[in-house]
Amino acid sequence: MLTVHHTPAITPTIRTPREIETDLLIFPVFEHDTLKDEPDLDTASGGEIAAALARREVTGKAYDVFLTTLRGWKSPRVMLVGAGSRTAFTADVLRRAAVAAGLAARARGVTRVALIHRSETSVPPERAAQALAEGAVLSSFDAASYKTADATRVWLTDVQLRVGPQSAGVDAAIERGRVLGECTNLARAMANEPSNRLTPRLFADRAQAVAKDAGLSVEVFDEKRIAELKMGLLLGVARGSAEPPRVIILRHEPKTGAKGPVLGLVGKGITFDTGGISIKPADNMDKMKDDMSGGAAVLCAMAAISRLGAPVRCIGVIPLTENMPGGSAIKPGDVLTSAEGKTVEVLNTDAEGRLILGDAVWYARQLGATHLVDVATLTGACVVALGKYASGLFGRPDAWRDRVRQASERAGDRTWPMPLFDDYFDLFKSEIADFANTGGRAGGAITGALFIKQFAADLPWVHIDIAGTAWAEDAKPYQPKGPTGVGVRTLAELALDGEAWGKL
Ligand code: BES
Ligand code: MN
Ligand code: ZN
Repeated sequence: MLTVHHTPAITPTIRTPREIETDLLIFPVFEHDTLKDEPDLDTASGGEIAAALARREVTGKAYDVFLTTLRGWKSPRVMLVGAGSRTAFTADVLRRAAVAAGLAARARGVTRVALIHRSETSVPPERAAQALAEGAVLSSFDAASYKTADATRVWLTDVQLRVGPQSAGVDAAIERGRVLGECTNLARAMANEPSNRLTPRLFADRAQAVAKDAGLSVEVFDEKRIAELKMGLLLGVARGSAEPPRVIILRHEPKTGAKGPVLGLVGKGITFDTGGISIKPADNMDKMKDDMSGGAAVLCAMAAISRLGAPVRCIGVIPLTENMPGGSAIKPGDVLTSAEGKTVEVLNTDAEGRLILGDAVWYARQLGATHLVDVATLTGACVVALGKYASGLFGRPDAWRDRVRQASERAGDRTWPMPLFDDYFDLFKSEIADFANTGGRAGGAITGALFIKQFAADLPWVHIDIAGTAWAEDAKPYQPKGPTGVGVRTLAELALDGEAWGKL
């Protein structure tokens, strides 16, 4: 596989824009902006900027870009990137503007840029530094990983950030942004891999490499160990495939050795979902190579958590298998016994994610998790409910769900709360077993979540359905088509905030 992402060197600078040595200076520009607070910029552009503002070629519309040359400054060129209205400006907009500018720079063959945080905005320097660093790294990703003609590919190599006065807080924020961006790109690269290049065993190999790099402890359970643990739901799904299943366990211990809460992160790792015997239609089935995006999000979030030294203990559990219709595959009506002992009638073999998550969530509890979050490309119904721009957020108690929501806001991963009324659970009635694995079409995202809830006992638990958000179907200036790495930054931000929610 070719290199698909590249992390540039990112350094803070306190030089004035005129003195910054780079190939392209990048300024956000707002609606109704005059840029009067950036002295001599228009003069250096030979009046091009004022002219572009006057003819409304530059309006500040979010993520539009405009380039022109500069004379007498150390940078030969400048890019104005739209940042929308000043009153609606947030770190999220700034991150997106940085991605849009980075992508536009790369498209023009530029490798060295400097991003300027405008003064007089409501985003403080540290938030800006993190958002800009994240955006710069996120823009250095390319999904065309198996194209053999790679000559035109350009990566950002040097990024300078001018956010305000120098401080330890700004340095730490840049590091946070760089690591979060890099780990998001790692998850995007994994989700992008076709299923023949990322089987459960190959995923486990990568997890070992990622964990070693990040200083995480890692264990990989093979099919024998999984059988000893009696994970009948995972083994049931794996029966249809020639590839054996795996379970990955990752552990992060904070430096302080603090007791306190244990965050259990569980990610769906279906490396390909054919639907099994309840087989999916051929159209778009190729998309089901990304059905391990939740698993990749947990792995890469754990890497970020370790590299950034999050203050809480964290455990990652990733159940991995293909969902295939082989000769030994489970069939509709089959009854499986979960590791916990609950029996499940499999009415639809395409509802496989909840099965493997059932055993994995139970196992996270056995390992001592006190707070649970699972991330999964779980249901088409969630895509119907929320579309492609927000993940479904389910969980209890509300206080825990709201913490995860806040983490997702900081991360720029949008989530939206969905209900979990018990009434929906009646849909899972089985004549033969404790319950069935599907609840019909109505409220499909909710019933999927309620199935997983059965395995969380009484722990604070949240489920994030990323079926709609893991893969971008339409290119946007701030989000190219392809894998998004959704969930990585949410989980990492949650762990970094552990001291605050640990008392819940
Ligand atoms: N991996 C799919 C969910 C999915 C669908 C993700 C579309 C991304 C885009 C999941 O395993 C699945 O097949 N779910 C079924 C559940 C149903 C059989 C109860 C679905 O959504 O149709
Ligand atoms: Mn499925
Ligand atoms: Zn699936």
